[in-house]
Amino acid sequence: MPDYDIHTLQPPTRLLMGPGPINADPRVLRAMSHQLIGQYDPAMTGFMNETMARYRQVFQTKNHWTLLVDGTSRAGIEAVLVSALKPGDKVLVPVMGRFGHLLAEIAQRAQAEVHTIEVPWGQVFTPDQIEDAVKKIKPKLLAMVQGDTSTTMNQPLEHIGAICKNHDVLFYCDATASIAGNTLKTDEWGLDAVSAGLQKCLGGPSGSSPITLSDYFVEHIKKRKRVEAGIRTNAHIDGVEPMIRSNYFDLVMILDYWGEERLNHHTEATSMLYCASECARILNNEGIDNAVFRHKLHGQAMLHGVKALGLKVFGDPLHKMNNVVGVYIPSEVDGDAVRQQMLTDFGIEIGTSFGPLHGKIWRIGTMGYNARKSAVLQTLACLDACLQNNGYRGPKGEAAKAAIDYYKLQPSQGE
Ligand SMILES: Cc1ncc(COP(=O)(O)O)c(C=O)c1O
Repeated sequence: MPDYDIHTLQPPTRLLMGPGPINADPRVLRAMSHQLIGQYDPAMTGFMNETMARYRQVFQTKNHWTLLVDGTSRAGIEAVLVSALKPGDKVLVPVMGRFGHLLAEIAQRAQAEVHTIEVPWGQVFTPDQIEDAVKKIKPKLLAMVQGDTSTTMNQPLEHIGAICKNHDVLFYCDATASIAGNTLKTDEWGLDAVSAGLQKCLGGPSGSSPITLSDYFVEHIKKRKRVEAGIRTNAHIDGVEPMIRSNYFDLVMILDYWGEERLNHHTEATSMLYCASECARILNNEGIDNAVFRHKLHGQAMLHGVKALGLKVFGDPLHKMNNVVGVYIPSEVDGDAVRQQMLTDFGIEIGTSFGPLHGKIWRIGTMGYNARKSAVLQTLACLDACLQNNGYRGPKGEAAKAAIDYYKLQPSQGE
């Protein structure tokens, strides 16, 4: 019998300190290992309702329609965009990194009329730049990324909702990489739709996308309602607008499945429901503001450490996400060789980068379960050693010490 039939799966032990995914919280892994129950078991529908309530706290919203889309974060993005945008509808996408391009690409596939504006990677948009483009283009929907891990920038959103409201534009945000590590106030900031993922500050694995939708957004998408043959009854009335061009990501059908009718759509990914629910439970117990504070604390400690190593930080420091930092790779070292040694000798993973930044910066995360002191200090000590081992000519032995000094000055040092 070949070896692979005999041995049980045994992934290597890693500390994942890149831009996500990160190590899942052990409590989340335990929650995922519970036995399955039937889709319409009252216990299951009870868990679904409980999960909706938990994510209302995470998204800081009263939106009834707060639920999970099965799939990774881009499933949530695609469900929002394909449900909101009919072919020919105008959408405005401000692009400040790779994931803005992703929103534009998904909207294009939905055959919307896509308009983009761009700032160089490492910068964010001002409200005036957004308002000027909204006035010019008159889109149906504005789609923005909050934290774009490709550049480590966190786009301020608090003034954009009012602009959208004044111009009767739906406002959607991809908060996959930022939620729980950076402040996000769905209702207060006037967001109509937000989607997320578990694998960053929520401390889980990827595979479920929590979303929240305002009543106003739901009113819009319900105009496209269709119930599929086989479960459709005479009581089901079609919406007045053309149907949503995806069955799996038809949010109106997904709402009927999460709503009182419990209309059959997909088979729920039960283990991911347990998982997503546990991520939110842990976070709500900590308190969302405390979680943001924790990400800031450990993100700053990491920042102090890399600076003490003499590494130059990428992007506008005023708008850096709390949970990831980009640093330029020193010219005298081979970036891939350093990452390789960190992985093989120390079991620590940091991130490379995409597009114009590929080969130029590393991205180092402090998020979710790994936004903690020991993970920060281990990563800094390891990076320090591997840089020296690969011909770096800058300061040595300073990184972990600088982070420890930083922690000592903080009123709450975290764990
Ligand atoms: C801001 C943002 N949006 C979307 C995605 C895509 O997420 P997924 O790979 O879970 O589909 C990511 C992944 O890193 C991301 O950082």
